[in-house]
Amino acid sequence: MHTQRTPDPDRLQAFVGQVLNDLGGAYSASLVKLGDRLGLYRSLRDQGPATSTELAERTGCAERYLREWLAQQAASGYLAWDPDSGRFELPPEQAMVFANEDSPVYLIGGFENAATTFENEPKVADAFRSGGGVAWGEQAQCMFCAVARFFRPGYEHHLVQQWLPALDGVVEKLERGARVADVGCGHGHSTLIMARAFPNSRFVGYDFHADSIEAARRHAREHGLGEDRVRFEVASAKDFEGGPFDLVTCFDALHDMGDPAGAAAHINTRLAPDGTWMIVEPRAGDDLGDNLNPVGRLFYAASTMICLPTSLAQETGAALGAQAGQRRLSGVIAEGGFGSIRRAAETPFNMVLEARR
Ligand SMILES: C[S@@+](CC[C@H](N)C(=O)[O-])C[C@H]1O[C@@H](n2cnc3c(N)ncnc32)[C@H](O)[C@@H]1O
Repeated sequence: MHTQRTPDPDRLQAFVGQVLNDLGGAYSASLVKLGDRLGLYRSLRDQGPATSTELAERTGCAERYLREWLAQQAASGYLAWDPDSGRFELPPEQAMVFANEDSPVYLIGGFENAATTFENEPKVADAFRSGGGVAWGEQAQCMFCAVARFFRPGYEHHLVQQWLPALDGVVEKLERGARVADVGCGHGHSTLIMARAFPNSRFVGYDFHADSIEAARRHAREHGLGEDRVRFEVASAKDFEGGPFDLVTCFDALHDMGDPAGAAAHINTRLAPDGTWMIVEPRAGDDLGDNLNPVGRLFYAASTMICLPTSLAQETGAALGAQAGQRRLSGVIAEGGFGSIRRAAETPFNMVLEARR
C-alpha cells in the first residue's frame, strides 16, 4: 500500500487556488454559451455598456436572469463593472474573444467544445472500460459545429495568408487552376476559404460523416459557390475517388482517422505526379514534456474525449491522439510512401506539414 506524504500547507493552498480558478472556468462554460446564444455579448459590443434592466430591454431576456449572468461574468473578468453607473461593459479585448467571429482569438467554439465533452462522457467512460471507440456520428450532436467553429478563425487568418504560401510552388498552381481535395473536411470551412481565394481552381471536400457533408453543402450555397467550383462528397479517407489532385489537404483530421497510414497510402495514389499533401494538425512537441502547457492541456482533453474515441471506433484504431507530434505523424505519412516531409508553418494552435513523394 502506497503511503502518501503529509500535505504541505502552502502547496495545498496554492493548489486549491488553482483548482478553484479551473472550476470557475468549467462553471462558466454554460454561461458563455448563453451569452453567445442569446446575443448578450453582441448587444454589449454593438450598443455599449448596460445595466441588467437596459440589457433586458435590448435583448428581450428576463432581467432577473441577466442580473445574475452579468454578475458572474464580471466576477470572471469577462465583463467590466462600473459601480457608479451599475453598467457592465464588454471591453474590446473580451469582444475579440467572445463576440467578433472574425477575430483570430475568437474562442466561443472552444467553450462549445468543452460543453460537448460533458455530453460525451458516459459513452467515453464505456470506451475506457472496453478499449473501444465512439463513432464521430454518435458523439454529442453540436460537437461537429463546435469543432468547426473552434478551428475556423485559425483557417480564416492563416490558410491563404501563410500556410499555402509556405508550400513549395502550390500558390502558383492554385492561381493558374489546380484540382484540390480536402479530406476529412467536416463542415467545409477550410474548403470554402480556399475556393473563395482561388477561383480558377476546383475543390472537392470529402468526409465520412454524412451530416457534416450536408452542412458543408449548405455553407457552399450560402457563400454562393456553385458545384462547378466546389463539391462535397461522403467518402472515407481510404476510398475517395477522383483526381489526380495537385493538392490534397487534411485539416485537423489525420489523427482522428482509424488508419492514418492507410489514408496516407490512398492519398498518395490520388495525387498528381508532382502533387503536394498539406497536413494541418494540432501543434504539439514530440515529447510529453513539451506539451504540458495550456494549449496541450486543451488538446489532450479534446483528444481523450473526442479524437481517441473517433479513431478507436474505426478499422485499425491507430489512435494517434491530438498531440501526436511531428515525429509520429511523419512516421505515418512516410508509411504512405512520402519521402519528403517538413514543417512548413505553425501557429499557437496548429502546425502545417508538407508531404511530397
Ligand atoms: C476534428 S474534425 C475536423 C474537421 C474539419 N477538417 C475542420 O478542420 O473543421 C475531424 C474530421 O475528420 C473526419 N474523419 C475522421 N475519420 C475519417 C475517415 N477515416 N475518413 C474521412 N473522414 C474522417 C470526421 O468526420 C471529422 O469531420
